[in-house]
Amino acid sequence: MYTAVFVLTLVVLVSHVAQGLDNGLALNPTMGWLHWERFMCNIDCDTDPDNCISERLYMQMADVMVKEGWQDAGYEYVCIDDCWPSHQRDTQGRLQADPKRFPGGIKKLADYIHSKGLKLGIYGDVGTNTCAGYPGSLGHYETDAQTFADWGVDLLKFDGCYMNWTLLGEGYVNMSNALNRTGRSILYSCEWPLYEWPFHKPNYTAIRETCNHWRNFADVYDSWSSVKSILDWTASHQDIIVPSAGPGGWNDPDMLVIGNFGLSHDQQESQMAFWAIMAAPLLMSNDLRDICPRSKELLQNRHIIAISQDPLGKQGYRTAKVNSFEVWERPLSKKRLAVAVLNKQEIGGPRGLAISSVPGWKFCDPQCNVTQILPQYKEMGVQPLHSKLVVRVNPSGTVLLTVSPISSNFKSHHNLHWQDTSIKDKHSTIL
Ligand code: GLA
Repeated sequence: MYTAVFVLTLVVLVSHVAQGLDNGLALNPTMGWLHWERFMCNIDCDTDPDNCISERLYMQMADVMVKEGWQDAGYEYVCIDDCWPSHQRDTQGRLQADPKRFPGGIKKLADYIHSKGLKLGIYGDVGTNTCAGYPGSLGHYETDAQTFADWGVDLLKFDGCYMNWTLLGEGYVNMSNALNRTGRSILYSCEWPLYEWPFHKPNYTAIRETCNHWRNFADVYDSWSSVKSILDWTASHQDIIVPSAGPGGWNDPDMLVIGNFGLSHDQQESQMAFWAIMAAPLLMSNDLRDICPRSKELLQNRHIIAISQDPLGKQGYRTAKVNSFEVWERPLSKKRLAVAVLNKQEIGGPRGLAISSVPGWKFCDPQCNVTQILPQYKEMGVQPLHSKLVVRVNPSGTVLLTVSPISSNFKSHHNLHWQDTSIKDKHSTIL
C-alpha cells in the first residue's frame, strides 16, 4: 500500500515537469557569445575588416575568451548569427559559407574553436529565407542538419522568418529530429514561440520537447527601454512560460548587451541580475576585444553566474510590485532564494525597500542569512523575521541578494516545502 502511494506520488511529481528535449544538452542555461546585437549584418569586410561577419571575428573572439577569463567563468559557445552563408547553395544543394568572408569554411573554423576548448554555434531558418534574406532551410532540413554535423557545429540557432506560421511547429520538430538523427550533439535554440504569439498561445509542452531554449519575445536592443520591455513581457506571461523552464530547456529573453553603449552601469547590473533570476541563456553580444573593466567584471561575476547556473534549475518569478520597485525571486538549491529588487523610478536618487517586504522573506522564520551580490558583494549576516534591514537601490539599478533560512529543528520540516509555496503564494502578494 505504502509502496503504491509512494510510486504514485513519484509519478505525479515527475510528470509535473514537462519532458525536455532528450539530447543531454543545456542542463544549465547556455553560456557564450553571439554576434547579432553588436555586429548585426555587417558584411563590409573591405572597409570594416575588424567588425564584419567573417571567420576572423569568431577566431578573435575565441582567442579573447580563452585569454581573458571568459572560458574560465563558464562562457563556452562562440555563435555565428545571420549573414554568414553564400546566397547560393552548392551543387549538391548544401549551404556554404560566403567564400570571401569565410575562406577556410566552417569546418576549419569549428576545428579552430574546438582547439581552444570552446564550441561553435551557427544560425539557420525554418522557412525559405533567413531574416536577413539568406537561404533558409525549408525543404532542406535533413541536408542542412547533416552539413552542420559534418562541419562539427555544436549549436544551431534556428530562426522563424519567411515561414507560414501554421507550419512553424512541424518545421521546428522536423529540424529537431533531423539534428538528432545526425548523431552529433547539437544544442537547438529556437524562436518558435516568438513567431507564434501573434496568432495564438504557443504549446510550451511541445516546444520544451523539441528545443533546448526558445525565444518568446522581440529582439533585444542596446537600450534600457528594450531590456525593460523584455522584463515586462516576461513578468506578464510568467504563469505560462516559467513552468516550462528547467534542465534541458529554457526561456530565452535574448542576448546580454552588457559592455556596449546603451546601458548605464546600474542598468547593466540589472540586466545581469535578471538574466540570472530568469535562468536565461547568458549569450553576450558585445566586443570582447574592447570592453570596459567594470562590464567585464560584471559579466564574469562568479556569484551571479552561480545563481544563473544553479542546479535546482528553476526560473524565477516576479513576486511583488510595490512603490515603483519590482521584486523577483528565484528558488535555488539548498533551500536558498535569490532576490532581485529593481528600482523602476527613473527620477531622484537611491530609494530604500525593507527586506521584510519581500514575499519570500516569510520563510526567514526565525531568521535568514543574507548575502548581497549586487551592487557589491557583502555578507549582511543573520537577520530575524522582523528584520529592519533596508536595501537601497539606485534608479534603474538592482540589488541582488541570496537569502538562506536558518531553521530551528522544529521549523526545518516546514522549510522543506518552501520552494513550492514561495511560488504558489505569489498570488497572495502585492502583485
Ligand atoms: C531575427 C532574430 C534575431 C537575429 C536576426 C538575424 O530578428 O530574432 O535574433 O537572429 O533575426 O537576421
